[in-house]
Amino acid sequence: MGDKVGTTQLIIFGASGDLTRRKLIPALVRLEAEGQLQENVSIVGVSRSAKTDEEFREHLVGVIPEEFREAFASLSKRIHYKSADVQRPEDVTRLCAYLDQMPGGDIAGRLFYLSLKPELFSDTLRILGEAGMLRMRDQNSATWRRVVVEKPFGHDQESAQALNACMHEFLREEQIYRIDHYLGKETVQNILGFRFHNTIFEPLWNRHHIELVQITVAEDLGVEKGRAGFYDESGAMRDVVQNHMLQLLALVAMEAPATLNGNDVRNQKVEVLRALHVPDRSDIARTSVRARYSAGKIGDRDVVGYLEEEGVPEGSQTETYVALRAEVDNWRWNGVPFLLRHGKRLKSKFTEIKVQFRMPPVQLFNRPDGLSPSEFRKQLRDGTLCQLRPNVLTISIQPSEALSLSFGVKRPGASMDMTPAKLSFNYDDVFQCGSAPAYQRLLLDALQGDPTLFLRSDEIDASWCYSDEFIKAWAEPDAPPIAEYAAGSWGPEEADALFEGCEGGWSRG
Ligand code: BG6
Repeated sequence: MGDKVGTTQLIIFGASGDLTRRKLIPALVRLEAEGQLQENVSIVGVSRSAKTDEEFREHLVGVIPEEFREAFASLSKRIHYKSADVQRPEDVTRLCAYLDQMPGGDIAGRLFYLSLKPELFSDTLRILGEAGMLRMRDQNSATWRRVVVEKPFGHDQESAQALNACMHEFLREEQIYRIDHYLGKETVQNILGFRFHNTIFEPLWNRHHIELVQITVAEDLGVEKGRAGFYDESGAMRDVVQNHMLQLLALVAMEAPATLNGNDVRNQKVEVLRALHVPDRSDIARTSVRARYSAGKIGDRDVVGYLEEEGVPEGSQTETYVALRAEVDNWRWNGVPFLLRHGKRLKSKFTEIKVQFRMPPVQLFNRPDGLSPSEFRKQLRDGTLCQLRPNVLTISIQPSEALSLSFGVKRPGASMDMTPAKLSFNYDDVFQCGSAPAYQRLLLDALQGDPTLFLRSDEIDASWCYSDEFIKAWAEPDAPPIAEYAAGSWGPEEADALFEGCEGGWSRG
């Protein structure tokens, strides 16, 4: 962390929860192992249950892999626990006194991490704010105060605006770090690098040369144990599409920022999100498919359908799958479909962006004998001549971390037959080290005060403005019924129709 950060207290609310144990502490331990966490950073876990520091450390150590145990041992001396109910002002006053006697006291920089249930965000902020805990002494001093808010940021546009207004009562925008862990992924950060460091693709990166962009976030997991209540209120649109997927879309579609400064990057992303065409209610059935998984098989394991999952309310209409045909109405992208798809309990887990370039205007090659020009054209369109494919740039985000470009080459021999080939780059082959987990980078940035990889309120507002329209339309009495797909399949057939007029189909990773 160099000398960018003075004495710092990282205060995690919701410290007994899963996120703290599975993501935040392991990320901090990795920072410690890499020497990126200064000794003057202490961590205070806060939640309601009574625990000693030692019990808290024992609760955390179980998920730390053997290779990081030494780093954990060194960090754990700086991990503390304070039980407090953040809904009770008297507990917050006690917490404040406790923090004042920690290293750095009240002149330490403080990063408050809200890893709480979303319904507690506003009240917690209000209580912290009213106790004076969010006040910065002076703007440039080491006694900074920042707040990291976990997703979901609101349940819709209106509630997100209300949460924002509440935050702005006590915090300036630059003190607020709204997290979207996708932005911390190495391969997601590379989208900007790849696009704006290399010149070869940029002249082609527009409606004249790109036929469609396909973005997939596929998961084989179903709704996780203990999460059904939350998930059922949320659904695939709110859980993944509104945030992670629209961020991926924004990074692919944005203009080059003037600098890598947080506001320059976010200004460009928000322009894309604001240019998303919000379809009329009547058009939503044509441009979207929502579905729910029924019983099926993941590998050779039988799994139940969404409605049979423990904790899912009877008669639930919540979607576990969404496919959309989005359009960005600006000069660069007008008319180019952005096909987005996310689902739980699909055949396998992968996140990927495919940029599909236009087919050559005339096909000189691979013309089977005896086909009339119109028959040949028809077969090209419907994919029967499948050896002729458009060029596709594939950005594999996870689990494979790779880039590949497909193109055609002449098959050696007497005839002019073209066959598909690929140029590939894979992180593993070149760097031989796995990418750091997303939270590692994001926590470091929040501690150092770099907001570039965090969301600004206008990005969230524009994302909700787009997503809300689908959610509202699906809730109408005359909305088409929710489709079904078998767990372990690639999703409902209905989603294929979103490719109308385009080459190809949904990626299978
Ligand atoms: C979270 C969602 O934000 O992202 C989960 O709440 C989802 O439902 C997860 O499984 C996916 O993240 P990743 O990094 O595994 O793709």
